[in-house]
Amino acid sequence: MKERIESLKLELENFRSEKAADIEAFRVEMLGKKGKITALFNDFRALDGELKRTLGKPLNELKTFAQQKVNELKDAAESNIELGPKQDLSRPANFQSLGSRHPVNLVKNEIVGIFKRIGFNVSEGPEIEDDWHNFSALNFPEEHPARDMQDTFFVAKDPDWALRTHTSSVQVRVMENEKPPIRTISPGRVFRNEAISARSHCFFHQIEGLYIDKGVSFSDLKQTLLFFAQEFFGPDTKIRLRPSYFPFTEPSAEMDVYWGLENERDYRMTKGTGWLEVLGCGMVDPNVLKNNGIDPEVYSGFAFGIGVERIALHRYQIPDIRMLFENDLRFLEQFKAAY
Ligand code: PHE
Repeated sequence: MKERIESLKLELENFRSEKAADIEAFRVEMLGKKGKITALFNDFRALDGELKRTLGKPLNELKTFAQQKVNELKDAAESNIELGPKQDLSRPANFQSLGSRHPVNLVKNEIVGIFKRIGFNVSEGPEIEDDWHNFSALNFPEEHPARDMQDTFFVAKDPDWALRTHTSSVQVRVMENEKPPIRTISPGRVFRNEAISARSHCFFHQIEGLYIDKGVSFSDLKQTLLFFAQEFFGPDTKIRLRPSYFPFTEPSAEMDVYWGLENERDYRMTKGTGWLEVLGCGMVDPNVLKNNGIDPEVYSGFAFGIGVERIALHRYQIPDIRMLFENDLRFLEQFKAAY
């Protein structure tokens, strides 16, 4: 009996086949009703107690081994593609249509990624806003022209509801809900009642940044923006800050990056200056902090608002902002390689 077990084990070890039919035949030969291992079990029953004790274990192991071997061979045979006359290896693969990311999303994701790496979290707010969040809390005087019908799409009067004209409204929502230190970035769509042309649209996207803590200074703002510009446009990128005005920041600035002035296209893009306007920024006005329950004697902060479309147009050399929103597949499919 012992020898039969060992010789069957050898037979099992030596068996090789990749054909399903042969493997099945082998299984029947070993484990089938009249199989060799089944026969061993029948003989085993007739043995006396002492032999049963010593042979039971190796016999059971033999059976388990045989089952495992057959299963493994079967799995391997199934995953093996059988090559025959029906397979044409020169046939091109089935066409799979891949989607592509929208250029505005590509730019947005990259910018958000850069700020996330330096500890900013992401916050969002509603596209329909009330006067308080879009204007009043941000220190817009009552008679400010930005409140004019020309600039704002009003949805309802009394109470005033409008489509937000900038993502600065999210600054207010964050300050309402969080205590400093605040370090947040808010991407979103904004709306302005403007004539649509190659350079401006009635809706576009911004990414707002807000940083409030003790002792935040203008040099923190400048260094953060330089970091962003060099991550996004390349390590040697130069920036410049021009004085500007926003009701909710003081002092305020606009940031340009140096684009270059080598060919006619550069002249057109930068209006002959070589500099590209990228964002508005400034130190959060103390009135805005006060309006939102933050003590300006203790805390200070900076904010900025990046225009996403403008950057996308330059990065991908798109001549007309309207192309971004026409959903023409011939246009969109050009961004398949980007992610
Ligand atoms: N909200 C401003 C705009 O839409 C941009 C901005 C944001 C400026 C934050 C300063 C600080 O033009």
